[in-house]
Amino acid sequence: MLDNGAKLKYLLKKSEKGKDMTVIKVCLGSSCYVRGNDKMLTFIEDYIQKNKKDISLELVGCRCTNLCQDGPNIFIADKKYSNMSKDDLIKVLEAL
Ligand code: FES
Repeated sequence: MLDNGAKLKYLLKKSEKGKDMTVIKVCLGSSCYVRGNDKMLTFIEDYIQKNKKDISLELVGCRCTNLCQDGPNIFIADKKYSNMSKDDLIKVLEAL
């Protein structure tokens, strides 16, 4: 089970009533953070603001999920993506 973690300032868009919201959680535990998730968080935020204005998304940071060996980890709609390149991440975000 994922740790909900602390919501950061990256709440980008709230769901409108009755609409589903896709939640993107970027692990900001120390292992994932130093292996690139600090930059991925900024990258996702910029990408969403430029390209995903028509869907409801919530971008949050979360604490370590004890899956460090796979990391850096990002959870999109509760599916885990590990050690992604920016190109791989763009493909996932485009499919939302
Ligand atoms: S720091 Fe991300 S899973 Fe542990």
